[in-house]
Amino acid sequence: MFSVPSMQITEEFTMGEAIYTPKNILITGAAGFIASHVANRLIRNYPHYKIVVLDKLDYCSNLKNLSPARASKNFKFVKGDIGSADLVNYLLITEGIDTIMHFAAQTHVDNSFGNSFEFTQNNIYGTHVLLEACKVTGIVRRFIHVSTDEVYGETEADAIVGNHEASQLLPTNPYSATKAGAEMLVMAYGRSYGLPVITTRGNNVYGPNQFPEKLIPKFILLAMQGKPLPIHGDGSNVRSYLYCEDVAEAFEVVLHKGSVGHVYNIGTKKERTVLNVARDICNLFNLDCEKSIQFVDNRPFNDQRYFLDDAKLKDIGWQERTTWEEGLRKTLQWYTSHSDWWGDVSGALVPHPRMLSISGVEKLADFQQGPETKAEAETADAPTEHSSLNVNSYVAGNAALIGQENGAPKQSLKFLIYGRTGWIGGLLGKICQKQGISYEFGSGRLENRAQLEADIASIKPTHVFNAAGVTGRPNVDWCESHKVETIRANVVGTLTLADVCKQSKLLLINFATGCIFEYDNNHQLGSGIGFKEEDTPNFFGSYYSKTKAMVSTWMMSHAIYFQAQALFCWLYLTLFFQD
Ligand SMILES: NC(=O)c1ccc[n+]([C@@H]2O[C@H](COP(=O)([O-])OP(=O)(O)OC[C@H]3O[C@@H](n4cnc5c(N)ncnc54)[C@H](O)[C@@H]3O)[C@@H](O)[C@H]2O)c1
Repeated sequence: MFSVPSMQITEEFTMGEAIYTPKNILITGAAGFIASHVANRLIRNYPHYKIVVLDKLDYCSNLKNLSPARASKNFKFVKGDIGSADLVNYLLITEGIDTIMHFAAQTHVDNSFGNSFEFTQNNIYGTHVLLEACKVTGIVRRFIHVSTDEVYGETEADAIVGNHEASQLLPTNPYSATKAGAEMLVMAYGRSYGLPVITTRGNNVYGPNQFPEKLIPKFILLAMQGKPLPIHGDGSNVRSYLYCEDVAEAFEVVLHKGSVGHVYNIGTKKERTVLNVARDICNLFNLDCEKSIQFVDNRPFNDQRYFLDDAKLKDIGWQERTTWEEGLRKTLQWYTSHSDWWGDVSGALVPHPRMLSISGVEKLADFQQGPETKAEAETADAPTEHSSLNVNSYVAGNAALIGQENGAPKQSLKFLIYGRTGWIGGLLGKICQKQGISYEFGSGRLENRAQLEADIASIKPTHVFNAAGVTGRPNVDWCESHKVETIRANVVGTLTLADVCKQSKLLLINFATGCIFEYDNNHQLGSGIGFKEEDTPNFFGSYYSKTKAMVSTWMMSHAIYFQAQALFCWLYLTLFFQD
């Protein structure tokens, strides 16, 4: 083995094969599933590499996933968003980052059908920020971008040759479209600015640490509880599954032996239908498949199959080691012996979960408290001063522990808020945070009664706020051409929520709108006479107004309904008269 001085510290050749040696690696999204295995593996195998993890601690993350790494001197955790250019630039410079392994993303396809803006924001914009930071700082020698098999779109059922790395990208759902979009930016930064990029496209991964909204852990947790396993459609969709440790090894190989400018599929030839996965899990639990499997509505679009040609990665030295039977058994053992790893995830176990809002910040607090609070932690070593200090001194601005900024949380109140991504819903969350009121955002779809009931059962709120609804992003005209969606959210959804709240004896505060009134003879422009809460709506000029007026009228007769205008006063006062 000999070093090549002109390539600085990073390239060595073994028997003609280029080996890249990183020093300081930034891994994004490593409090999530796959990247936690990669981070833990690199820390274990390469104690001389410094590993800096950047993760915003989204609902699907868990700092416990990084327990094996936290005691290491060469490990640092930073809570923050890849979309923050200042933070990313700062980290690259201060940590002397020469390598980025970029995993952070919104990853759940089901969520992307309901909230695709989050996917664009995190997956495309977030990747763009990282790339631009590499360009501006000029110190990154490898940018490994983690993409997915889904960017190829679905494979024909009878295809015998899998997609190879030069195949066309034909994504079919919002998640895969954002992953493909991010890839385009990665490619462009490689071509335009010579950024040394490598892209991976992987099959499905399973194993310990995966958030239970994904198929395998979800089925395992449901089977553990003796509940039905919901299958989207008829279960004939085929997927290829790789065990997480094999995938972590694939990233180890790509990191050291991958060629700049290349794409590598991380795939397996072994495929199984979703129905077979469910049957295998039932069998491991000795459950009667016929009774335990429940067929539910399919996703808006559900690719039939993703089949990859995995030869290229094998050529540089990777191979799948874990059989399906062994991997599934290990996964099952892990979930059964770590049943409280995720806390209450009942909202994720419904057939079509949507974006959840379990506070990662609370989990950060756990992480800071040390191993004695974590019976389940895989390493029981005390954290070094180095690692705990880094957790304490994370750089991101949103450090406030939810509901604790102004001292102890107001325990008597717990708000459940719908409309997290909207302006008012987001604002409500911020106000609660400032006021020290404990709150959570609802994850259920308003029109889905079971999901709302699951939210209430798991969150146990004292009050419910509804700021969710279709307002017609990007503008109200959208509602004219999307009447079904508008009715579903604004009419069926709001009334369902009202009824569920009534049933649970909970106060519901619904955010209505003034767009249901127009000037008339009794309320003339400039007269100073406005409409009162009890006035009958008189404007039906837009589909949006129609749905809102209809619901407003019906809600007035609902026993536990509170008009939103009263709340607007509170909102106004809170906004403008609190510091
Ligand atoms: N899980 C699979 O089967 C699979 C298959 C192929 C490819 N992938 C890709 O692998 C990567 C990791 O997937 P996973 O299943 O481990 O994901 P995951 O959902 O378990 O974890 C994602 C992590 O990214 C973090 N994150 C999200 N947005 C962020 C942001 N803006 N800033 C900082 N952190 C952010 C989350 O907090 C979370 O910890 C993703 O890019 C995904 O597209 C996953």
